[in-house]
Amino acid sequence: MPHSSRAHLDAIGIPVWVRRSVFRAARQEQPSPATAAPAAPAETTPTAETAGAAPSASAALDAIDAQVRACRKCALHRTRTHTVFGVGRADADCMFIGEAPGAEEDARGEPFVGRAGKLLDAMLAAIGLQRDDVYIANIVKCRPPRNRDPHTDEIVACSGYLRRQIEAVSPRLLVATGRVAAQSLLSTTKPIGQLRGRTYRYGEDRLPVVVMYHPAYFLRSPLEKRKGWADLVRLRAMLAEPSVSVS
Ligand code: URA
Ligand code: SF4
Repeated sequence: MPHSSRAHLDAIGIPVWVRRSVFRAARQEQPSPATAAPAAPAETTPTAETAGAAPSASAALDAIDAQVRACRKCALHRTRTHTVFGVGRADADCMFIGEAPGAEEDARGEPFVGRAGKLLDAMLAAIGLQRDDVYIANIVKCRPPRNRDPHTDEIVACSGYLRRQIEAVSPRLLVATGRVAAQSLLSTTKPIGQLRGRTYRYGEDRLPVVVMYHPAYFLRSPLEKRKGWADLVRLRAMLAEPSVSVS
């Protein structure tokens, strides 16, 4: 196992006896992703959201982002510092969806940049992916005060932006991280413990949805990381398949 992979796994706390065999199997299924993609066209603002994107997808995302920046459809607009639209490859195969911006994300206007975000980066790295290889967004684009759960009316008000974001990126699969993302995307009230580790379908295109625990959960319950690792390995295998089948 290359030293760097080991370091990534150490970072997320995967026990040695699990990681050796499983990680090697996962790596053999697909080579590491290609190196950095070309920069966005000169006439568009080269934001982090659009870097490396296919022009049409990134233009569509820019247009939705502009609407989100001006949005006042729910009460969360009153307390936000920045809207947090999304980041990563506009033509990514894999789109991660979290819950809502926290304090750090609200301050910077970028999703998953706080402690949970660092852990998400480490989890991605453990399966050979970088932030720039995937697309990352949230269910709601503005921070709920004191990081409370977003209310149903806020989720509903914001859902059109996410739906169009998913259409623009058109990923091969969605990864719902945490209860709020999973329940919102799948329109269910089942607990995350029952939902995780399985694959569902989203929208008219029946896009596969992998449900995982939220990285913040692993910060609170480090012993559960083993389940997170199992989910990551499954995700890696699904991404390596020519067409994603739901198990
Ligand atoms: N948690 C989330 O669900 N999303 C973020 O962007 C940050 C933390
Ligand atoms: Fe608009 Fe969504 Fe922000 Fe509410 S959370 S103000 S719907 S962008």
